[in-house]
Amino acid sequence: MTANTGPDWLGAALEEIPGVRVVRDRDELSTFETDWTRRFTGVARMACLPRDTAGVAGVLAFCARTSVPVVPQGGNTGLVGGSVPRGGELVLSTRGLVALSPVDANAAQVTAGAGVTLERLQQHVRAAGFDFGVDLAARGSATVGGMFATNAGGTRVLRYGSMREQVVGFEAVLPNGGVVSRLGGLPKDNTGYDLGSLLCGSEGTLAVVTRLRLRLVPLLPARAVALVGVVVPADAVTLAARLRRACPSLESLELFHPDGLALVRAHSGLRPPFARDCGAYLVAECAARTDPTEELATALLECPEVVESALATGRPEREALWAYRERHTESINAEGVPVKLDVAVPVAGVASFLRAVRGEVGQAAAGARAIIFGHLGEGNFHVNLLGANEHEEAATAAVLKLVASLGGSISSEHGVGVAKAAYLGLTRSPADQAAMRAIKAAIDPSGIMNPGVIFPA
Ligand code: FAD
Ligand code: MLT
Ligand code: ZN
Repeated sequence: MTANTGPDWLGAALEEIPGVRVVRDRDELSTFETDWTRRFTGVARMACLPRDTAGVAGVLAFCARTSVPVVPQGGNTGLVGGSVPRGGELVLSTRGLVALSPVDANAAQVTAGAGVTLERLQQHVRAAGFDFGVDLAARGSATVGGMFATNAGGTRVLRYGSMREQVVGFEAVLPNGGVVSRLGGLPKDNTGYDLGSLLCGSEGTLAVVTRLRLRLVPLLPARAVALVGVVVPADAVTLAARLRRACPSLESLELFHPDGLALVRAHSGLRPPFARDCGAYLVAECAARTDPTEELATALLECPEVVESALATGRPEREALWAYRERHTESINAEGVPVKLDVAVPVAGVASFLRAVRGEVGQAAAGARAIIFGHLGEGNFHVNLLGANEHEEAATAAVLKLVASLGGSISSEHGVGVAKAAYLGLTRSPADQAAMRAIKAAIDPSGIMNPGVIFPA
């Protein structure tokens, strides 16, 4: 690499790495600088898009030598501010890492570049008679690398687990440019530390993931979706427990409230789902090789909590019911810039959490609205605060402390990012944090990987 000490020494050096495109143009750079919610924004020094693993290795090795901080970015749909620069970092975009292997039907596996979007992966594997175990509404933009880095959850965790459970192997570039690769497709391999598991959920603070060997699940052609209205949120919790016991083909259990429904309807023009208003709504989906409609319908008939219900089997009708739940995120975003708190509580604490959380928000931020929805199956709720203004941090602290007091998680599926770095101590002991920092220091001694994410800057 040529020594270049001019003002553009970084760009010039990165451009010498084969296959790396460098972005300096401010208009193009702005597309990398603000997150999906518009809450997190910062100036990038520049961005670079390697097209293969060697390119990523070249970039990271150079940045480590010259102490240039790096923010890895996939689809930029992350919701905790970890995918955008805070001030002058190099954005390393994985959008050029888009290779996708043929489906290995015997192993039920596929190898995908980190920049492959979930939607492209789904289309690819469904054409071969398989499916992917994680699904989420950002599927058109979210990349498998970003989903791995955040250990994404979504709407099928109940059945298949989160992203970590879908990963058979990985390839990643460490900050010193070293490449770690486990792409052989071995479902069982206990040779030393499980680095893949460590990197999954590390939010770009340890390495850049370049390829993933992914486990596939059977494509289940028959589906049934129910939208159910209940009187109070606690009834949804009881109903969810009943459905789990009664429906072996259950795949999703999602919750939303009347205020969220009103917001979705205001921004989408959807009609009310039922003639009367309900206190809470549950979406349940079953999937199987043969039609699970009767299984779901019979189970619902035996649940006294159900006061309204709609059942759909055909794809357009199912999507119409899902829309009330899936369109929450975009509707909240259309209403303002939200503070998004992705939390989880143990099943035993769900009803208490749902009873207490609005009061906590009201006390900390009078006038703020809390739109709460999420993945009831895992006790994972998205508390979206609108209009908290100068009380954002007070309201955040109040909600997260409530969660901690119930033995929950302050970061269930979105990650810690920068949004919750200051609150790590609420659910991680000093010993825990020291171990995490030691790992960070060992793998990234110059601290170039996504500084400020997980641990406060
Ligand atoms: P980015 O946003 O680009 O990055 C996320 C984090 O991962 C950052 O810290 C970044 O530095 C790091 N990163 C990205 N790529 C790499 C890589 N290759 N190597 C190392 N680090 C990397 N999340 C859920 O869990 N469940 C949901 O149901 C869900 N629904 C969503 C719905 C909508 C409408 C939106 C906008 C978001 C939703 N999300 C959900 C959040 C988001 O889609 C996930 O966090 C997703 O995993 C992010 O993928 P991405 O490619 O956009 O990553
Ligand atoms: C969801 O479950 O819809 C997502 O995690 C996105 C969000 O929290 O808004
Ligand atoms: Zn979610």
